[in-house]
Amino acid sequence: MKMSERAWFNGQVVPHHSADPSVASNTLHLGIAVFDGCVAYWNDDHWHQHLMREHMERFHRGAARMDLALPWGVEELLDGVHLLLDTLPRRTHYIRPIAYRTAPEVFFSVDVESTSACMFAVPITRDVDGAVRCQLSSVERVRHTAIDVTWKVSGAYANSYLCEREARRAGFDTGVMLNSAGLICEASSSNLFFVADRTLVTPRLDGDVFPGLTRALLIDQARAADITLVERDVHPAELPNFDAALLCGTLSEVRPVSCIGDVNWPSADDPTVRHVIDRFRRSTHR
Ligand SMILES: Cc1ncc(COP(=O)(O)O)c(C=O)c1O
Repeated sequence: MKMSERAWFNGQVVPHHSADPSVASNTLHLGIAVFDGCVAYWNDDHWHQHLMREHMERFHRGAARMDLALPWGVEELLDGVHLLLDTLPRRTHYIRPIAYRTAPEVFFSVDVESTSACMFAVPITRDVDGAVRCQLSSVERVRHTAIDVTWKVSGAYANSYLCEREARRAGFDTGVMLNSAGLICEASSSNLFFVADRTLVTPRLDGDVFPGLTRALLIDQARAADITLVERDVHPAELPNFDAALLCGTLSEVRPVSCIGDVNWPSADDPTVRHVIDRFRRSTHR
């Protein structure tokens, strides 16, 4: 991964190493940080900042709920993205904002005032066509009653990491987690949709499913295209009944899913999946 030479750090664009936390920071030891993931698309001659305001609002809200109060508002963060983009080569980039603690703290301390914020960028490839192979993970999705999954708390992402690691080691691209009730939840960092007779089915937001912005966009786009869409519980035993599947997220965009465990689908050729992908891409090529 080649991260940007420069980062927006506490209001200024600086060499990214200036944003490094102390080795004794409780962000490093306890995972006390909140982050987000956004994409700035380079479209021929201009940046298209995809749902950037929505991402920054989510980031700002999550940081506040984790007592990582930022002295910068959403508008200042959006200005910071502009400053960062000005330093980048003209190609599509993933932007990672993070609110964290740089000071040495080690032990639990609440009421800490030293919150820093940083945004850096990583170049990415867009519009990837290949289908994704998913493992049905033995790693259970962290319960929202343990850690609220609507804030992207860094420490909670050890859960996604363990799911992803197990899947990659077994030769899959990613893993799909069940919740504690044994229902299909989501992939390690993407939401899932299934197709049944041209109807889209996605796990309902039961608290354990991350309310992804891409998920919400696809739901809006499906409704606008008169595609029937159902948010409901999805049991692993139903997987063979579906015709196709897709996963979605800001970084992964929309990708066909060719299998979950030993259930296979020709998702890349499914007309509903193709429609969803085409419509999503139209919204990013603006
Ligand atoms: C656990 C998890 N699920 C789903 C998603 C997809 O969310 P979004 O579409 O907002 O990127 C993400 C990415 O942020 C995630 O971390």
